[in-house]
Amino acid sequence: MVSISTQIAGFAFDNCLMNAAGVACMTKEELTEVKDSAAGTFVTKTATLDFRQGNPEPRYQDVPLGSINSMGLPNNGLDYYLDYLLELQESEPNRTFFLSLVGMSPEETHAILQKVQASGFRGITELNLSCPNVPGKPQIAYDFETTEKILSEVFAYFTKPLGIKLPPYFDIVHFDQAAAIFNKYSLKFVNCVNSIGNGLYIEDESVVIRPKNGFGGIGGQYIKPTALANVHAFYQRLKPEIQIIGTGGVLTGRDAFEHILCGASMVQVGTTLHKEGVAAFERITSELKAIMEEKGYESLKDFRGKLKYIEE
Ligand code: DHB
Repeated sequence: MVSISTQIAGFAFDNCLMNAAGVACMTKEELTEVKDSAAGTFVTKTATLDFRQGNPEPRYQDVPLGSINSMGLPNNGLDYYLDYLLELQESEPNRTFFLSLVGMSPEETHAILQKVQASGFRGITELNLSCPNVPGKPQIAYDFETTEKILSEVFAYFTKPLGIKLPPYFDIVHFDQAAAIFNKYSLKFVNCVNSIGNGLYIEDESVVIRPKNGFGGIGGQYIKPTALANVHAFYQRLKPEIQIIGTGGVLTGRDAFEHILCGASMVQVGTTLHKEGVAAFERITSELKAIMEEKGYESLKDFRGKLKYIEE
C-alpha cells in the first residue's frame, strides 16, 4: 500500500496535497469544499486585519500555460478566517489547517500575529512575505533587511507554529543570504514559491488583466523550473528543523513527485486548482501514487530530497 501522508510542524496529514493560498480559499464555502475533497488540508486566502476589496476586475486570467493575477489582497479580514478555524478545531479536532496572513505594514502584521497568538488557534500560521500585487508595496522577502527585522520582532512574542511564504529567488547568492536569515529563527517551514511577480501576458494587442496595466503574478507551467530550483536550494541550505512546502507548476502527479524529490514535505496546487476545481486533488493523488508504485516507493520519505545529480 502506497501512502502520501506527511507531517508539517509535527501535525499529520493523510495527503500531502493542498490548495495554494489565493485559490479556492476566500470564503468558508470554498474552504469547506477543499477540506472535504481529497486534499490533506487547506490554507486560507492571505488575511489582512480588515476586509479588503482588492484590485479592480478583471484581475485573474487563466491562460494556456498557466495564469496571471493581480488580485491586490482581497480578503474577508482576519476575524472571518480565525472564527472559521476556531469552529473547525471543535468539529474536526483531528485535523490541522493553515491560516495565511500579512499586514499592509509591519505594524499591522504584528497586530495580526498578536491577535492570533492571543487566540485559541492551534493550527499552523503562514506569514506571506511575497504578495507582488499591491501598488506601491514591494514584496517583503526581496528586502532582506526588512525581512530579518520582521522575523526578529515576530519571534519575540509569537510561539505558535509559523512558516513563511516566499517569492522565487533567481540568484545563488540570494538563496545563500535568505537561508542564512531564516536559519536564525524557529520557523517550521518555508513555502516556495509564490507567483513569479509582475509578468505581462498579451492577447492580440492588449493586456488581459486591468490592474497595473496588465502586470501580474505568473503561475502554472511557466514557473515549475523556478519553483523546483527554490524548493531544492532551500532544502540544501536550511537547517533540518525547517521543512519545505513546494508550490508552483503542479499540474500532474509527476510535478508533485518532482517537488518532493527536491525536498518538499507538502505540495500546494494553485493555478491547476483554479482551472480544474477540487477534482484535481483526486487526479493528482492517483497519478502520484501510480508513480510511487512503479518505482517501489511506499511513502514520501523513500524519495523526499533524493534528487540525483550527474556525477563527474
Ligand atoms: C495576492 C497575490 C499574491 O501572490 C500573494 O502572495 C498575496 C496576495 C493578491 O494579489 O491578492
